[in-house]
Amino acid sequence: MSVPVITIDGPSASGKGTVAAIVAQRLGFHYLDSGSLYRLLALHARQLDVAWEAEDRLAELAASLPAAFEQGQVWLDGNDASEAIRAEEIGIGASKVAALPAVRAALLQRQRDFAVAPGLVTDGRDMGSVVFPQARVKIFLTASAEERAFRRYKQLIGKGESANLPQIKQDIIDRDTRDAARAVAPLRQEPDAFLLDTTELTIDQAVDTVLRCFGQSQASGV
Ligand code: DC
Repeated sequence: MSVPVITIDGPSASGKGTVAAIVAQRLGFHYLDSGSLYRLLALHARQLDVAWEAEDRLAELAASLPAAFEQGQVWLDGNDASEAIRAEEIGIGASKVAALPAVRAALLQRQRDFAVAPGLVTDGRDMGSVVFPQARVKIFLTASAEERAFRRYKQLIGKGESANLPQIKQDIIDRDTRDAARAVAPLRQEPDAFLLDTTELTIDQAVDTVLRCFGQSQASGV
């Protein structure tokens, strides 16, 4: 693979999306939030009344998902779905459809197509293990469940929404368990991935660490 790819995998609410988007911007690379594809599929299925367990039907929908990423927004069938895919319920649906092997297979090539010049930064759960095993730099970005719950809590309160911290923490732990326990592409740190624990780090510090890893990989010609 000649185009440089940086993969950032990790559990939900770890901040990997924020870090990945800034790293992409700093390097002038493309950015793929792979979780948004699973979220779009869950939303699309909901709109078409297809159950989140209907594997064959969902795989068909995934193969022809009318998704687009333009102007910093996520589009489904020509409609801006950026907010709708962030709803808690759609997140739960995403984690259910993501556990189905036929769905993952249907989305594989679509994700690989994002690796075009000058480079790609992508975040998800299996970007370094399955989608881009030859990635130039692999990061496993995490933070404690307490810290992730607290960040999510602050985000919701900041948006003027109500939030229950113990409930958020429990949801995060449940989602981690589901993502790590599934049979296909479970969430785990690859042996060649750099562990980046951001519990005590600012976003800038996390971004700098990823950029340093990338710089080192350039220097060593990996
Ligand atoms: O990162 P996120 O919360 O937007 O992801 C939504 C769901 O999709 C999450 O439960 C895990 C799943 N997912 C996945 O299985 N593989 C990916 N590469 C990205 C997300």
